[in-house]
Amino acid sequence: MVDFDHLLADTGRAVNELLDRMLPMHDDPEARLVEAMRYSTLNGGKRIRPFLVTSSARLFSVDQTCAHRVAAALEMIHCYSLVHDDLPAMDDDELRRGQPTCHVRFDDATAILAGDALLTRAFEVLGHPATHPDPRVRCDLVVEVAKAAGAEGMVGGQMLDLVAEHHALTMPEITRLQRMKTGMLIAVACEAGGILGKAPEPVRHALRAYAHDLGLAFQIVDDLLDVEGSPDEVGKQTGKDEAAGKATFVSLLGIDRARNQADMLADQAVQHLEVFEDKAEPLRDLARFVVNRRA
Ligand code: IPE
Ligand code: IPE
Ligand code: MG
Ligand code: MG
Ligand code: MG
Repeated sequence: MVDFDHLLADTGRAVNELLDRMLPMHDDPEARLVEAMRYSTLNGGKRIRPFLVTSSARLFSVDQTCAHRVAAALEMIHCYSLVHDDLPAMDDDELRRGQPTCHVRFDDATAILAGDALLTRAFEVLGHPATHPDPRVRCDLVVEVAKAAGAEGMVGGQMLDLVAEHHALTMPEITRLQRMKTGMLIAVACEAGGILGKAPEPVRHALRAYAHDLGLAFQIVDDLLDVEGSPDEVGKQTGKDEAAGKATFVSLLGIDRARNQADMLADQAVQHLEVFEDKAEPLRDLARFVVNRRA
């Protein structure tokens, strides 16, 4: 896993540099907005979605500069989703990545606007010619990312998450909720490499299958860490899901079965990568990292 640790750190550094350049500080009267955008993106984070973009892009020998731009755009969307998720009207959280949440550090209105601005900036980045010389590729990226982030993806999943509070869901219902809330952004991060590299459908299908299982495993572990982790380790308040009556795999299956399910999904995810042979080793390592992580 030494190589994996280095690769993940490298991706994190590259994305940080890019985000730093894409969100420059200025002294216009609205500077507080940029400050909040920077606060919410340049504050750590595992950078799993950027890692998926760069690793899938490597499978198709895509220029890493292009991949890093897509990685930064997806991280902006992910960070916006966290800023809004933490708002008092949603999960009402005060700790994120070990620091006060955006609305605590600034205020609710600024956090809403910073989220809005990160989301829109992400699409500006995806549509920019520097992201890919072929406008059809850029268009594909915009459409696929919009689908994954919107009402049929992450935002729809967040709605389901709220609607499901204090309701027992069945396994298929929880699976759909988690797939939309978390899985689709993870899936589009994996697919981005295939889009950038104009990969043929069968290999894109393999990547989608990997991402499907990885995304579910990822959210199950997030739910497990809420029960088993400590704020010092995970950088966010724990024990919140049960208190809020959230429908999770852990609430449905209990800790042990949820853990088994996550391990099984990670193994299954890895099996979809056979077609890529050794080139997919970073994606295999990521699947193991996702289920073994403590944060
Ligand atoms: C947390 O995502 C939010 C979910 C989608 C469950 P991560 O665990 O990837 O958060 P960071 O980016 O590392 O902070
Ligand atoms: C949020 O899920 C997923 C998003 C789309 C932001 P959670 O509410 O479980 O994420 P955490 O635990 O606050 O990071
Ligand atoms: Mg939430
Ligand atoms: Mg939350
Ligand atoms: Mg959670």
